[in-house]
Amino acid sequence: MKKLVTVLAFSILFLSCNSNTSEKEKEASCEKPKEEFQMYEISEMAGLMEQMYVENKRLRDRIIAKDTLGTFPEYFLKIEKATFTKGKERDAFFNEHAQLFLKAQSEIYTAKDSKVAYNAMVDQCIACHEVKCGGPIMRIKKLYIK
Ligand code: HEC
Repeated sequence: MKKLVTVLAFSILFLSCNSNTSEKEKEASCEKPKEEFQMYEISEMAGLMEQMYVENKRLRDRIIAKDTLGTFPEYFLKIEKATFTKGKERDAFFNEHAQLFLKAQSEIYTAKDSKVAYNAMVDQCIACHEVKCGGPIMRIKKLYIK
């Protein structure tokens, strides 16, 4: 956070003083702060989704390695309350599918066949995304265990 503030402060200073530099230099100087801005402005829901992605990628590795799976990550319940990126909102479809997803996720840890249960959870990620947020679907599909 401190680093972010410093980067932003410097870039604002730099941008406000650099009216003589070439377009190319300006472009280069803007690139990094732009990325930092996006990270800073990511919604609670988008942040949670990224965490769920990483968590389930780890779980995938453990299932493949036949390692112990641990327990349901309680913070996934934040999906019931987290706020969205501007323009997106919570509705009946989202809430219903969030519950189906949580149920599928929770069943993995006690399932007889954890691979089948895990893939059923990924199905739920995609079922919601097909309607609500198409962008990440290709990425989510990589979570499947073949
Ligand atoms: C109930 C619906 C629903 C379920 C279930 C769901 N998502 Fe999402 N997902 C969304 C919505 C809506 C957004 C956009 C959130 C926003 O922009 O605030 C999103 C955003 C994302 C993003 C992009 C985040 C970003 O950086 O902008 C990723 C990646 C993602 N989801 C992965 C997953 C994975 C992996 C799962 C399953 C483990 C999953 N999602 C389950 C609805 C869902």
